[in-house]
Parts: sequence; C-alpha cells; structure tokens
Amino acid sequence: MVRLSIIALGLLYALSNTLGVVADTATLTDPAIDGTISVGFSNVNITAILAEAEKELGVNGTVTDNLPDDSYGAPGTTITTRDLEKLQELRKRTSGTGIFGAIACLSLKLLFSSKTATVGTPNYNAWNNPSFWSATTYMTPTCVFRPTSALDVSLALRVILLTQADFNVVGGGHSAIKGWANTEDGVLIVLSGLTGVNIKTGYVEVGAGERWGNVFTELDKKKLMALGGRMSTVGVPGLVLGGGISYLTNQHGFVADQVENFQVVLANGYVVSANKYLNPDLFRALKGGSSNFGIVTRIDLRTWPCPHGVYSGQLYFNDRSEYPKIFDAVYNYHTVGALSDTQTHLISAFVYVQIPGIGGLHMGAFTAFRNLSAPISATNPGPGTALAEIVHLNPTVRDASTLQVRPYGTQAIELGAGDAPGLRQDMRDFSVYANRALYEELFLLWESVMIPKHGNKAGFMGTIAFQPITTTAVAAGVARGGNSLGLEGNTKTMAIINLTHQWADPKDDTEILKSLDELLGLAIALAKAKNSYHPYYYLNYARKQDNPIGSYGTAAVNRLKGVSRFYDPCRVFQDRVSGGFKIPGL
Ligand SMILES: Cc1cc2nc3c(=O)[nH]c(=O)nc-3n(C[C@H](O)[C@H](O)[C@H](O)COP(=O)(O)OP(=O)(O)OC[C@H]3O[C@@H](n4cnc5c(N)ncnc54)[C@H](O)[C@@H]3O)c2cc1C
Ligand SMILES: *[C@@H]1O[C@H](CO)[C@@H](O)[C@H](O)[C@H]1NC(C)=O
Ligand SMILES: *[C@@H]1O[C@H](CO)[C@@H](O)[C@H](O)[C@H]1NC(C)=O
Ligand SMILES: *[C@@H]1O[C@H](CO)[C@@H](O)[C@H](O)[C@H]1NC(C)=O
Ligand SMILES: *[C@@H]1O[C@H](CO)[C@@H](O)[C@H](O)[C@H]1NC(C)=O
Repeated sequence: MVRLSIIALGLLYALSNTLGVVADTATLTDPAIDGTISVGFSNVNITAILAEAEKELGVNGTVTDNLPDDSYGAPGTTITTRDLEKLQELRKRTSGTGIFGAIACLSLKLLFSSKTATVGTPNYNAWNNPSFWSATTYMTPTCVFRPTSALDVSLALRVILLTQADFNVVGGGHSAIKGWANTEDGVLIVLSGLTGVNIKTGYVEVGAGERWGNVFTELDKKKLMALGGRMSTVGVPGLVLGGGISYLTNQHGFVADQVENFQVVLANGYVVSANKYLNPDLFRALKGGSSNFGIVTRIDLRTWPCPHGVYSGQLYFNDRSEYPKIFDAVYNYHTVGALSDTQTHLISAFVYVQIPGIGGLHMGAFTAFRNLSAPISATNPGPGTALAEIVHLNPTVRDASTLQVRPYGTQAIELGAGDAPGLRQDMRDFSVYANRALYEELFLLWESVMIPKHGNKAGFMGTIAFQPITTTAVAAGVARGGNSLGLEGNTKTMAIINLTHQWADPKDDTEILKSLDELLGLAIALAKAKNSYHPYYYLNYARKQDNPIGSYGTAAVNRLKGVSRFYDPCRVFQDRVSGGFKIPGL
C-alpha cells in the first residue's frame, strides 16, 4: 500500500517536474530522486499531452489524496477503476508519444533504483542487447527493468497498468522476430534475474530467467531428466509457452504438456498459480498460448529418473549422393521408428554453410537420441531398432559421430556450444503430413531458391529441418489435460518443416528475406499440390506474418479468447504489448 502510493507520487512527480511545476519533493524520500533522471523523452514536445494529463488527472503539482471509489487489483491498492478509465482514455488520444513509458520508467526508477536502467547507463547496455539472440531484434526501450522476484514483477505490472505504458518481456531472447520480446517505447522486462532450479520430488521448479543448460546440469547431478529445449542456450519460458519440442516429445508430448504448474503474474499484479486444480483454464491456455495472459515467473516441470543415461550424439553426412538414402531413413523414422520406440528422437537438419577458405559446404547435421532403459550391450545396442537405419547408414559417419552413452543434459550442451548470439537470424516454419517424396522435393526447392543467390553472402548459413509430430506425442498432451495447440484431430504423423537462416550484414536483410518469403510460398504450394499440407504453424519457429495461434483452430482460439477476457479484462497484454503472437479476433 505504501509502495503503491509512492508510485502515484512518482507519476505526479514526473508530470509536475516536466511541467516545471514544483512537486512536493519533501514527501519523496528515495535517494535516487534528484530531478535529473533522464527518462528518454527529451525530443518529444509533450506540452500539449501534459496539459491534457493535468486536466484529466487533476494533477497540477498538488499531491491530492486520491481515495479509491472502487479498488482494482490487490486489496489496499490506491489504483482505482476511475483513474484507470481516465488513463486509458488519455492513452487512446495520445498513443505513440512515449510519454507513458517514460512515466512508468521514472516510477520504476523510484521504486527499484538498482533494477531499473535508463538509456546510456552500464546496466542498460548489459541488460538490453545481450538479452537477445538475433541482432535483428535489438531495440531501444525507454528503460530496462530487471526483477529478481515475482513480487518485483507484480509491482512493475501495477505501475505499467497505472501508467498505461507499453512494455514487453524477454526470457531467453531466442525469438528471431523484432519486437516479439522487445519494445521501442516503454519498459523492457528482462527476466534473467529470476533464477533458480529447485529439484523437488517428481518435479523441478525453474525460474523464468533460466536457460535449459542450467536446468539439465542440475538434473544430471541427481540422474534425473525433464522435457526441455534441445539446445542449452535457449530460454525456458518462451519455449514452454509456445509448446516446446524436446528429445522426449514422441512419448510425452510437447514440453508444455509436462508442466505441473505455472506461477504467473496477471495484468493486475496478482501472482497466481495455474495448474490442474487452480485456474485450470489458464493452465491449459498457457500451454501454447504464448505471452497473451501474464508474465510467467516460474515453471514447475515434471521429472523422470535417468539411471542409465542416454545414448545420443551428432552425425554429419557430407556425401551429397547419400541424400536419397537419408530421406528414406528420415521418413521411415517419422512413420515407424518414432512410434515404435517413443524414447527416441531424431533431429534431421540439412545445412548449407559458408566456410571461409573452404567455400560452401552441404551437410546433413543429425542428432540421434535414445533414453536408455538398461545399459547398452550386445542385445541392447545404443540406437535400438528405431535409429538403426540412420545411425548405420554410413559407418564412417557413424564412427566420426559424437554418439555415446552420456548424462541426459550433455547432449543439449553439446548442441548449444555452436549457438552464437549477435548474428542476423530468421526462423520460419510450416507443416506437412509425412511424405518421403515431398521431403526431398522441399529440400531441393530450398536449395535452389536460397543457395545460388545467397550462399556467398557474408556469414550465410541455411538450414531446413524435418521434425515429426507423432500421434503418440499428441495423445500424450491429451492425457495430460490438453493444450492450446489444436492438434488433437491428427490421425497420422505430421512434420514441422523448419527453416533457419543466418547472415552477418544488415545490408543483406532485404534480399535474403525476399527470397525466404518466396520460398515459403512455393514450399506451401508444393505441399498442397501433393495433398500433404497441414495448416499448423508451430509458434516457436513461426514467421511474424503467419498466424500460429489462428492455426490452432476455432475451438482453441475461442478458449483462448475466453481466458484472456477473464484474466486480462483491461486487455493489457493485447494492447500494451505490441509484439508477440496475439489471439486473432479478440
Ligand atoms: C538455437 C535455437 C534452438 C532452438 N531449439 C528449440 C527446441 O529444441 N525446441 C523448441 O521447441 N524450440 C526451439 N527453439 C525455438 C524456441 O522455442 C523459441 O525461440 C523460443 O521463443 C525461445 O524462448 P526464449 O525464452 O528464449 O524466448 P524469448 O525471445 O525471450 O521469448 C519468446 C516470446 O515469449 C515471450 N515470453 C518470454 N518469457 C515470457 C514469460 N516469462 N512470460 C510471458 N511471456 C514470455 C516473449 O515476450 C516473446 O513473445 C530454438 C530456437 C533457437 C534459436
Ligand atoms: C510544443 O507544442 C506546443 C503546443 O502545441 C507549442 O505551443 C510549442 O511551441 C511547442 N514547443 C516546441 C519547442 O516546439
Ligand atoms: C490544481 O487544479 C485544481 C483544479 O483545476 C485547482 O482547484 C487548484 O487550485 C490547482 N492547484 C494549483 C497548485 O495550481
Ligand atoms: C528414461 O528412462 C528411464 C529408465 O528406463 C525411465 O525410468 C524414464 O522414465 C525415462 N524418461 C522419460 C522422460 O521417459
Ligand atoms: C529448427 O532448426 C534449428 C536450426 O537448424 C534447430 O536448432 C532446431 O532444432 C530445429 N527444430 C526442429 C523442430 O527441427
């Protein structure tokens, strides 16, 4: 209550100070307040806006006791619905000016001087761009707020609600879409301070600032495993909220399907649990509904024993003439192996990479994985039956591979070692039904559209990957109470076709993206012509202009709309967060 009245004072202070009206600074005891805080709106002529704010809010340098008529938010707060309505009205008439973000930032600076960083400060530089994987996603938020607890997030969301500021949230920062986890005006909430991997009986509590590598390393120490990302560097929250494909997906579904509980800060600042028993509709919505409902501060994931470790590693196929055999193996795995041994996984990626001094290199970069139910032996060979075809396809490749028995988490760390932040990145995807001929044609199409034209560009690397989503994976999600992804109707294996490209020079953005858009159009047309198109877009790899949530289907979208209307009636996550995949038609 006391702290919230300080926010109100911060708001008044910001307005009155900028107006040149003397604020009652005697009541502001925070040492950070000296009237010199730069909040980044010096280039905006805000006279008219502030005059209006003064009129609308009755703020003119006098601190009035704004007694609540009807309280909104937690009991005892001084935010009233009347104030909110006025602010929302004001916001509508003055959008895009940056002033609301500036006021929020000043208020946060007053409340959390060491956790709020404004432009030009060392913390701003340390917390802003380094939070992002792709250089295409760098922006300049008015301030960066780095909470270290759910309560910090709660208070920050109340400030944001009160000030009607724009904001966004970044977890591991691996979205490649500009503005999806960042904001140009307003507050960027960086979750990296929400750390903690606490292993409990049967589950692990993971702070939303964690990345998968640390989660797995802690689990390995206890010979445990959990579903998660396949590369150590990727963030926990974004991956889970978009679904999440893991090494154990064939048996246990998406990573989100194995969440036991989400701790979520709602738009009004409430910190709630969402699980099978509490807020079950919100729980289901968060499994694929992305950033539309709240800021997730902790995710509790189910754990399993991993007593014998896993047999896994990377295989690199360099002989282009082997590709037809490789496509056979991929297709057979998707339609047979992945179903018969659900404890296995196969990443099938075809890569073209420019190596200075050597030139363009084609390779099949595969990761084969099997969770071991017993130590390997003559009767229990590492690859088992499901992975035998791909592993033994070329004995030289097999012998040069990193295949080995190892602790679960080390595979994600091995793959993560190749993940470099700071390049220009694009990810996009679409879906098909498993189809051997189509896979190879899609590969050839990708190659012909991208490589001759762009293969020589600085830092260019392109990948096309084929990821099965089996009926067993979908059934696992249903058995866990369902998710938002809308795949329940699948009766055969589908595959997510995942295109990842990176390059170094911003000058190449336009041309490369143009080719990629062309490629996606042609690829989808090809899949349709082969009667193998599936309308699903996997959210975590989707392109900005695609509509992954819409692709979940009407029933799922209607559920998500209802959950948003209930948990975020003021549309904070729809309107104040400009980026991210929204719920269509809400
Ligand atoms: C190298 C690489 C490997 C990958 N491997 C896999 C893989 O194995 N399996 C897989 O399924 N996907 C994988 N992905 C895709 C990955 O799931 C997405 O990039 C995902 O967005 C990463 O999550 P993040 O926390 O790092 O993302 P961020 O970019 O931080 O966030 C993504 C979105 O989620 C929102 N968000 C983040 N945290 C929260 C929160 N706590 N509460 C509410 N909203 C939040 C953001 O605002 C943003 O809209 C990979 C991506 C890359 C680049
Ligand atoms: C700012 O806008 C006000 C009102 O529109 C105007 O009177 C004033 O001259 C402007 N100031 C500057 C520096 O442009
Ligand atoms: C602030 O505005 C109110 C309402 O317009 C007015 O009654 C009051 O005198 C003003 N106070 C100051 C300090 O200007
Ligand atoms: C991995 O294998 C062990 C040993 O068979 C088993 O107990 C565990 O449940 C498996 N893990 C998963 C995630 O299925
Ligand atoms: C998508 O491609 C990226 C980069 O090649 C890879 O790391 C990721 O595992 C792929 N995802 C799937 C689902 O195949």
